[in-house]
Amino acid sequence: MRAVRYHEYGSADVLQVDDVERPTPAAGEALVEIRAASVNPVDVLFRTGEYGEVSLPSTPGGDGAGVVVSTGEAVDRFVEGDRVIVSGMDRAEGGTFAEYAAVPESKLAHLPEEVSFEAGGAIGNVGATAWTALEEVAGIKAGDRVLVHGGSGGVGHAAVQIASASGADVITTAGSKTARERVHNLGATTVLDYESETLAEDALAATGGDGVELVLDHRLEEYLGLDFEVLAEGGHTVSIMGHVPETSGVSLYKKQATVQAVQMDARPVRTPLLQRVVRLLERGDLTAVVADTYGFEEASQAQREVLAGGYVGKLVVTP
Ligand SMILES: NC(=O)c1ccc[n+]([C@@H]2O[C@H](COP(=O)([O-])OP(=O)(O)OC[C@H]3O[C@@H](n4cnc5c(N)ncnc54)[C@H](OP(=O)(O)O)[C@@H]3O)[C@@H](O)[C@H]2O)c1
Repeated sequence: MRAVRYHEYGSADVLQVDDVERPTPAAGEALVEIRAASVNPVDVLFRTGEYGEVSLPSTPGGDGAGVVVSTGEAVDRFVEGDRVIVSGMDRAEGGTFAEYAAVPESKLAHLPEEVSFEAGGAIGNVGATAWTALEEVAGIKAGDRVLVHGGSGGVGHAAVQIASASGADVITTAGSKTARERVHNLGATTVLDYESETLAEDALAATGGDGVELVLDHRLEEYLGLDFEVLAEGGHTVSIMGHVPETSGVSLYKKQATVQAVQMDARPVRTPLLQRVVRLLERGDLTAVVADTYGFEEASQAQREVLAGGYVGKLVVTP
């Protein structure tokens, strides 16, 4: 089978398409013919070596969608021919930038007929992350006011939709005017330019000066100070990336606010979360916006674009 691999850490140029042996599913695994794989920023960090060592050569991709072609022993819920969504594979389990992947049953959910492979492949991790942060950890409620940083991104575009569907007022940010217009159409009530020097004031003004009950932050070192300016008393910041700067204690006390981290790597059993995401897709509360699709030979370009940003939603790689 064909698989995108890198044999050494480095720039996007180290990615190449190799002919490799098709994996055999072990007990508890299904062999999935991958039709689409999500391009996630974390894959870039693995490729450069910044996210710790992986066994080389390595295939990128922890998420995707495809069709089950066979199963190992003790697989109960999936049979040959099932359309599936794959999410949360770790690098030791192989990657989804390949024609086939042997995937633990705990990282699979059924993909409804009406959801395309591209959409299913794109939404697993970002949908599960947004849902976990907003619903499970923060307990978002109808009427809450929420600031979602980076509503144009993968997690952000899912978070805007999930928060909006739960009845919250969503304030969010994006880098370009075009992206801001598109994110507005996903359900955000206010979309601001993250480069604006009056971002905190503008976000506060959008709440009539009251502040937000909840912030979803993806760059904590950069934004924690702003988060505390914008949070209402007793509010919560949920972080999916970054560390709490050491000097933040004073603001924390003043606002009686909390900061909590969400780390999906700590959630190896993904099926229940993926089933949630699928239900949101089925109800029309969540749509995966696929901004662009790349072939395996264009995987380097896809990984460059995911860092450059400037689009709304997700990039996808297909065989
Ligand atoms: N903790 C976890 O389990 C977990 C799970 C998923 C993701 N993550 C991490 O969370 C982060 C976001 O993931 P993602 O998949 O959503 O990435 P993504 O699709 O690349 O989105 C990045 C977002 O950041 C925005 N952005 C760029 N520069 C910014 C700035 N200076 N200020 C504010 N926003 C800015 C981009 O806006 P424009 O494109 O409009 O410029 C875009 O909306 C990544 O670091 C990822 O590794 C963590």
